Amino acid sequence: MAHAAPFEPFRIKSIEHIRMTTREERAEALEKAGNNLFAIPSEMVLVDLLTDSGGAAMSDAQWGALMMGDEAYAGSKSFAKFEATVRGITGFHHVIPVHQGRAAEHILFSQIVKPGDVIPSNSHFDTTRANIMAAGGKPVDCVCECAFEAEHPCVSKGNVYLPKLRRVLDTERVPFVMCTVTNNAGGGQPVSLSDLQAVSAECRKRKIPFYLDACRFAENAWFISRNEDPRPVREIARAMFDLADGATMSCKKDGLSNTGGFFACRDEGLAEKFKQRLILVEGFPTYGGLARRDLAAIAVGLEEVLDEDYLRYRVGQVAYLAGRLHDAGVPVIQPAGGHAVFIDARAFLPHIPPPQFPGQVLAVALYLESGVRSCEIGTLMFGDGVAPPRMDLVRLAIPRRAYTNTHMDYVADHIIALHHRAAQMRGLRIVQQAAALRHFTARLEEIVPTGAKA
Ligand code: F0G
Repeated sequence: MAHAAPFEPFRIKSIEHIRMTTREERAEALEKAGNNLFAIPSEMVLVDLLTDSGGAAMSDAQWGALMMGDEAYAGSKSFAKFEATVRGITGFHHVIPVHQGRAAEHILFSQIVKPGDVIPSNSHFDTTRANIMAAGGKPVDCVCECAFEAEHPCVSKGNVYLPKLRRVLDTERVPFVMCTVTNNAGGGQPVSLSDLQAVSAECRKRKIPFYLDACRFAENAWFISRNEDPRPVREIARAMFDLADGATMSCKKDGLSNTGGFFACRDEGLAEKFKQRLILVEGFPTYGGLARRDLAAIAVGLEEVLDEDYLRYRVGQVAYLAGRLHDAGVPVIQPAGGHAVFIDARAFLPHIPPPQFPGQVLAVALYLESGVRSCEIGTLMFGDGVAPPRMDLVRLAIPRRAYTNTHMDYVADHIIALHHRAAQMRGLRIVQQAAALRHFTARLEEIVPTGAKA
């Protein structure tokens, strides 16, 4: 089945030049970088799918809002707009800006997590996990089992598996429950409204607060409106927030902005404690470590992200890339998530065992052949932890409004070509690594079988 490229509901007013590179130049860059794509300079990248975070193209309305930013330290007009917008969308009265999502996580957890506490979620994102652990807590993932089956057709693979959550709540000290919408660590998969309702009811029954990690709330609401509840996306988003006591947010995703985030909640006492800490480490509560103009741009972005024409295109572009790959026999997680396409690298490279980093092999080969930068999420990223990861994936995360459908075709064509000669690829071994978060700085080399040509 041929996939239709989605109509882009915007035209381009300002462009950023892409420097074309040759295969030789990219081979040299990989050599210098020790086959680590985090060490490749961005001017050597043609299509950058390392992350969907912070790379959104802002609209003319957002650039206009930037110019109108009111840089007052206290009581800025831009903060008032930001606060009103977040209140309007979420219904949370207390709105506290931060410079990016993990700052909200850090401040929140340092206030309410005690050593030995357990914090369940569908899947914690890595900064969330690390910030819980830094506060002495233990993050526990309770995502449903179908999340680990690449071809499983469930449309809510981000759901919390309730029996597991109940077991944790019955046996552990749990100060609050989280849920990540969409579930980034599990493939950008949505959480259904009925699952959020069930988790919320369980928490309310036990008087345990429930917080959303809301980075991609609009994409999640879009999926709910397509699969489950036909109300307008804005109403669905509000229904999601109504089930929670608060949310952490990175506006670098569904804020359609290049920086920023917030914590919002209903509890005045918690908001006060949060603000006291914020003043110490981020800034005064009417700017939270941001320029006020950034708050102005985010306020516009949060409205634009709920535009249904935008969301149809956005989720459609991800589905288009996933569909082209799937039709050509490339193993991708189905159905496509909201912000990224995930390739199953173990199925793509069955001859390369996980200890030889099949995800990184594929990511490096894709960069060499095409200049497309992706991200390994597998044994290199998580294999130095307590348990080996269950999957080796390559994430193609698509920045919002930044790339055209032609760029997606370019990416798909190169991956399909690589798939045809996957058997020729060789594993990698680590030659240098740091004690923690090794994937950011590790250096790797190709494993050349004895007697073969390097
Ligand atoms: N929560 C989720 C679900 C995220 O995906 C991220 C960031 C954060 C929290 C932290 O937000 O970056 O503003 O501090 N995810 C990016 C990614 C980095 O590539 O997936 P931040």
